[in-house]
Amino acid sequence: MSGRENAIPDAGPGLTALQIRHGHPDFLDLPWHLPLIGWPSATTRIVKMQRGLSRHEVVFCGYGGAVYAFKELPPGVAEREYELLRALEERQLPAVLPVGHARARTLEEGPTSVLVTRYLDGSLPYRTLFMQPGLERYRQRLLDAVASLLVRLHLAGFYWGDCSLSNTLFRRDAGALHAWLVDAETSEIRESLSDGQRRQDLYILEENVAGELADLAATGEAAPLPDTRDTGEAIRLRYERLWSEITREEVIAPAESYRIHERIRAMNELGFTVSEIELVATGVGNQLRMRTIVTDRDYHRHMLHGLTGIVAGDRQAALMLNEIREMQATLSRELNRSVAMSVAATRWLDERFHPTMQRLAPLVAGAADVSELYCQVLEHKWYLSERARHDVGLDHAIEDYLREFEGGA
Ligand SMILES: Nc1ncnc2c1ncn2[C@@H]1O[C@H](COP(=O)(O)OP(=O)(O)O)[C@@H](O)[C@H]1O
Ligand SMILES: [Mg+2]
Repeated sequence: MSGRENAIPDAGPGLTALQIRHGHPDFLDLPWHLPLIGWPSATTRIVKMQRGLSRHEVVFCGYGGAVYAFKELPPGVAEREYELLRALEERQLPAVLPVGHARARTLEEGPTSVLVTRYLDGSLPYRTLFMQPGLERYRQRLLDAVASLLVRLHLAGFYWGDCSLSNTLFRRDAGALHAWLVDAETSEIRESLSDGQRRQDLYILEENVAGELADLAATGEAAPLPDTRDTGEAIRLRYERLWSEITREEVIAPAESYRIHERIRAMNELGFTVSEIELVATGVGNQLRMRTIVTDRDYHRHMLHGLTGIVAGDRQAALMLNEIREMQATLSRELNRSVAMSVAATRWLDERFHPTMQRLAPLVAGAADVSELYCQVLEHKWYLSERARHDVGLDHAIEDYLREFEGGA
């Protein structure tokens, strides 16, 4: 998406530069000659939204049904935060959507920069979750949501630098609670994070949370609060459990390839998507060390399409990619050298996918979604294998599936 840059003549107070992404208002009607604190009395666009504590001035403006957040920062800082939020967006991590940045000069404050983000619709600051008595049941989930967000960010090499409840937004979704990053001012993005950097982020988190809860308790308005120090620690412990589960390595035997599927499902249940399974020979017998690499939505869809031309939903694609990886592991073992995914994908198409679809021909004609049909057979194979505690093989699964389908039809 390309933005547009409007260079504004450098004269007197007002905008000096503005970059807004395509598809949003140009915001030129806003009182840029004033610091944000003066905007509420100078424009009717101001909307009051619930919000967390902040260092900087933040105001919200409504354009039609859309609300935007404006944050005033020292010169140059908004641009940097904008880029960090863009990096999070590219990695499909949950963070507020960056819309643009501006430079302005005001009489009172001289030059400033302003970050523009899309207001995260339906979001609740933590204060609301702690203040409203009916929302207590979300508190435990809030701890999980923050821990899970931080794990996700860290896996992507993102050091937050200021993880706190105020810098997190919460959104309820069918009884679950999801956490979104709102403030990336102090963040950095790297190839990967060291244990020390992750520890530092957790330390900051604990300090921040203790401060925020103490502050909330001092207002006297909150529903009874958990111990202020325990909450930060509880988040850290959840983080550590999640992190070790996700980065855990397991040793499997070649005949246990169904365990790859079990592991992927366990990851999915924790809310993570497995993008890659690394299988490395341990040097002990035929055993393989399995490591999972997690990433985000649509990764599988794109990868499967690139490798095979098959168009499928992301979950379907993930299942088929697992098969291709199993094929890759088998080939590597047989040939005693590493085998490219593209090679494994071709073999998989020839030996698994096409023959299976041929055998399922009686069902294919009536199926709306051919990928789904294939995946159902895979699921069936795993179901049978898990029950039998060994791989029952695709042939057996197809037969059983056809039998069951015909029996049930
Ligand atoms: N895009 C947004 N959507 C929803 N709330 C927002 C958004 N941007 C800011 N806020 C609210 O404003 C508060 C302050 O923003 P933040 O970026 O954390 O500023 P600061 O750097 O001053 O801490 C946040 O805690 C959040 O409640
Ligand atoms: Mg903040």
